[in-house]
Amino acid sequence: MNIIEIIEKKKNKEILTNEEIEYVIENFLNGNIKDYQMSSLLMAICINGMEKDEIFNLTKAMLDSGDKIDLSEIKGTKVDKHSSGGIGDKTTLVLLPIVASLGVNVAKMSGRGLGFTGGTIDKLESIDGFEVEKSREDFLKQVEEIGIALVSQSGNLVPADKKIYALRDVSGTVESTALIASSIMSKKLASGADAIVLDVKVGKGALMKNVESARKLGKTMKEIGEAFGKKMSIFLTNMEEPLGYAVGNGLEVKEAIDTLKGNGPKDLEYLCFKLASQMVSFGLSIPVEEAEEKVKEVLKNGKAYQKFEEWITYQGGDINKIEISSNYQEIRSSKEGFITNIDALKIGYLVKDLGAGRNKKEDEIDYGVGVVIHKKVGEYIKQGESLLTIYYNKEYKEEDFINCFIISDKQKEKNKLIYEIM
Ligand code: URA
Repeated sequence: MNIIEIIEKKKNKEILTNEEIEYVIENFLNGNIKDYQMSSLLMAICINGMEKDEIFNLTKAMLDSGDKIDLSEIKGTKVDKHSSGGIGDKTTLVLLPIVASLGVNVAKMSGRGLGFTGGTIDKLESIDGFEVEKSREDFLKQVEEIGIALVSQSGNLVPADKKIYALRDVSGTVESTALIASSIMSKKLASGADAIVLDVKVGKGALMKNVESARKLGKTMKEIGEAFGKKMSIFLTNMEEPLGYAVGNGLEVKEAIDTLKGNGPKDLEYLCFKLASQMVSFGLSIPVEEAEEKVKEVLKNGKAYQKFEEWITYQGGDINKIEISSNYQEIRSSKEGFITNIDALKIGYLVKDLGAGRNKKEDEIDYGVGVVIHKKVGEYIKQGESLLTIYYNKEYKEEDFINCFIISDKQKEKNKLIYEIM
């Protein structure tokens, strides 16, 4: 087999065989296939796409490139959740304790953020003392004792994705249904859960810019998961404006706590309620409507919040010590009108530049910085009213943040939060 012939084949819109796909993954990992050859193939895939069987075979070859987590020692249906990445997305912090408080065991691995998207591990590290690394034995013991554990991705999970993703990032080949689906699904399948709920973000602040492309990605991932015997549910959700009010690690943890206590932003509260209900439905094998009643109950009677406290304390965190910068500035609106747009992507980049995110994997981050938005799309703001508060530890330009908001005389109809559940 020869990489040049494989590149030519994809360039000519032909279908790659399983053997060819396995050859590519194996030889790219061991260095026989060079970065420039792999980027050329990735670009051909981006342009000409892949058929269903090819995507399945690519996912399997990537999955088989490394370790797989075995969760079979944990009782019951293990449910995992993944978001394709968004601004202010702290749903995992809210969902896991809800689900665990209803007796569904959660054993989850999460990553750190890169670029404008935040990572759950970074958010949790803003809590003083929280330990994100655990041995496999301690991880499983924790799930057995309190029904919930979340640790940093470790070991040799899908090394093919690490190497391919790094190349995609610098070769203009991130946006491809085949490549995104195989990247996300190989990691989810390696994490060992029986059921997977995927939140595919749609909009300016997301990888998928419109509902059609998100639907295509969602359908592909659902088919891959089901072919591996997993229960799958796909949510297509709005990422035109940030989710909730807070963006930035410590600030987002505080907002997750408020949400668990019933005082969260309405959009975040609703999305968490729907995602959690789907997870509980899978975990307890009950209809979603019945799961919704149970979720409402644990939010109301405080059990979900108690589970959050138990979880954070078990992993060494002090819930009363969440890093938030003491330097803050409130920005007031110079205009009056309806908020018709909040540019989530720009906010994501600005918050990263405040120090909340990384440009390179090795960068240190500032857990205490970020923004809290005070008005969301569709709301009316008066002149002099508070638009947002910036938490900082270094200089920034006020106008950059103000320019993320469009204020207009006419009210615009707000986009739906959940476009579709597949
Ligand atoms: N997230 C991933 O893990 N992989 C992609 O390709 C895109 C988003």
